[in-house]
Amino acid sequence: MTIKLLALAASTRADSVNKKLLAIAVAHAEKAGAQVTVIDYNDCDASLYRNEEAQPFPEGAKRLSDAITAHNGIILASPEYNWSMPGSLKNLIDWLSVDKSAPLKGKGALLLCASPSVRGGILGLNQLSLPLAHLGVYVYPHLIAIGNAKTELTEQGIASAKDQKFLSTCVTDFVRVTNNSAR
Ligand SMILES: Cc1cc2nc3c(=O)[nH]c(=O)nc-3n(C[C@H](O)[C@H](O)[C@H](O)COP(=O)(O)O)c2cc1C
Repeated sequence: MTIKLLALAASTRADSVNKKLLAIAVAHAEKAGAQVTVIDYNDCDASLYRNEEAQPFPEGAKRLSDAITAHNGIILASPEYNWSMPGSLKNLIDWLSVDKSAPLKGKGALLLCASPSVRGGILGLNQLSLPLAHLGVYVYPHLIAIGNAKTELTEQGIASAKDQKFLSTCVTDFVRVTNNSAR
């Protein structure tokens, strides 16, 4: 079967390094045989969660929930904000957690981060993996954090051959394991 993956970069900036990194990962996933849908973070806008009994379920969170449900797994590129994930992304995860259809349960997720810092946002990815795992996501064990992103990410891919190889190996393996678990 052809595996269906949803790809999201948690940034709305036009020159987002995470959008660039996501595009590289998507190209590898397609090469590995996956059918990939990219969803725009602008289309996942959600009001700040306070109390689902007093608030309508946000359209953007519903759109994301439906998209996740329609796919076998997720490729998620997230910026690191203050050694954690962006508040907007945590807010979306909180909304998904009160969706009775439990859209995230049993899905696989490959997490990536591009950052201008040397460290590459690995602390943010560590933080992001926790609520996802709590909600039943099988987080792919290798977190892909690309530092010095402004120079590392080029039109051709990742400048560092080592990082490029790591990314392609992880993406290909993620497509394989998602395929195996979907059978
Ligand atoms: C509120 C805020 C906090 C940030 N905190 C971190 C951080 O902890 N670590 C880091 O590497 N970069 C941090 N940055 C820099 C982002 O990594 C950088 O802006 C990056 O380009 C954001 O990703 P994007 O280009 O995909 O939007 C922060 C940026 C903002 C706006």
